[in-house]
Amino acid sequence: MRTIIEPFKIKAVEPIRLTTRAERTDKLRHAGYNVFLLHADDVLIDLLTDSGTAAMSAEQWAAVMRGDEAYAGSRSWYRFEAAVKDLFGFRHVIPTHQGRAAERILFSTVCRPGDVVPNNTHFDTTRANIEAVGAQAVDLPCPEARRTQEPHPFKGDMDVTGLERLIAEVGAERVPLVMLTVTNNSGGGQPVSLANLRAVRALCGRHGIPLYLDACRFAENAFLIKLREPGYADHSVRQIAREMFSLADGCTFSAKKDGLANIGGFLATNDDRLAEQEKDLLILTEGFPTYGGMAGRDLDAIAVGLREVLEEDYLTYRLASVRYLGEHIARAGVPIVQPPGGHAVYIDAAAFLPHVPPLQLPGQALVAELYVEGGIRAVEIGTVMFGRHDPETGAETAAPMELVRLAMPRRVYTQSHVDYVVEAILEVWQRREGMGGFRIVRQAAVLRHFTARFEPLYSVGG
Ligand code: F0G
Repeated sequence: MRTIIEPFKIKAVEPIRLTTRAERTDKLRHAGYNVFLLHADDVLIDLLTDSGTAAMSAEQWAAVMRGDEAYAGSRSWYRFEAAVKDLFGFRHVIPTHQGRAAERILFSTVCRPGDVVPNNTHFDTTRANIEAVGAQAVDLPCPEARRTQEPHPFKGDMDVTGLERLIAEVGAERVPLVMLTVTNNSGGGQPVSLANLRAVRALCGRHGIPLYLDACRFAENAFLIKLREPGYADHSVRQIAREMFSLADGCTFSAKKDGLANIGGFLATNDDRLAEQEKDLLILTEGFPTYGGMAGRDLDAIAVGLREVLEEDYLTYRLASVRYLGEHIARAGVPIVQPPGGHAVYIDAAAFLPHVPPLQLPGQALVAELYVEGGIRAVEIGTVMFGRHDPETGAETAAPMELVRLAMPRRVYTQSHVDYVVEAILEVWQRREGMGGFRIVRQAAVLRHFTARFEPLYSVGG
């Protein structure tokens, strides 16, 4: 088999500023060891997120020029609405500036204090928006999801038995909706199978509970179904995506991921009454229902992005490049969530640094070292992001997993960038025994990972 090449050539380039190790050590200390607080200019390879970081295509830039900025009923809106309805199939599309705005509108419309919202695994903003309205966010990943290094084709699946038990315990009337995140980002970027989607749908149907998808990475999930789920090899990715959406009553979507755009999103539903309420809220905080939180040009860029993201050459290359990174570090012994999913490689920091206890934030230590070693910016998805801090007692509770995510921006980096990342990770792996932990010195009450400041309990950089 030949080398898998990027199925595009590069029309515009953006320089990467090279930095020295000493500079990076200094920058990181000034940022309180929080990579969210670094200047992006001080980062060599930015794998912080695959969200809003995609390179747009020539067709998308052309669409940007066609953007119609009329306040109401613009041509851009009708092109956007047609693209979304054709693919997603929901009756109402409510445009928002990004995914979390859709979450906020959805949960503040359907949730009451004391309600319970199950998900395979909630993303941080999803959980925070549910908790903000006084409801409880419950993660129900399948048991295989927690066995990070054991391969399983659909580790994003929901634990259906667990869902049945939860509904029986709290009562269906307290569950305003069930969500499935495709792919399961906080759970390692793992796909959800159609079999699981159908099982969850059937259970929701029996209890009269609506099922919503958090559809950020629907195209990667659909392609992984094509590759891994028996019976789907001959289906097009679009057909599979349509089948996924046909099983749901609505979805939230951040166009910053599989919309191949730098901003945007929407909320979709088949419920006429709910859509009216949601549009009223939209006008209050986002904008008129034919643009929501976006400019006309954004709507057009997304309409084109939703077509390009389903191209199989693109998806083949994308998955190959993520798998390449995963396989090359795993082969040297680095513990990763197996198999690599669609948008990122997740290193199991607890297994990488078994001598650093979870409350000493092994993921944060690994993130710091990757930056100092190679100027690579990754993100901790562990106790910093999902641990609990009791402001009364100061007590800390660890998250179920300590992951470090290396998220690949779409169409941005080439294979040699990936090789460089492999080399830097292996350097850090060689000196892991000399690494230690971190402690938090300042934190916010919610979503603390964005602004917290840390202090190392050892000498960073080896
Ligand atoms: N749901 C999932 C599964 C996500 O991954 C994200 C964002 C959101 C919802 C919220 O969307 O950012 O447009 O408001 N994830 C980014 C990430 C930030 O880095 O994984 P948003």
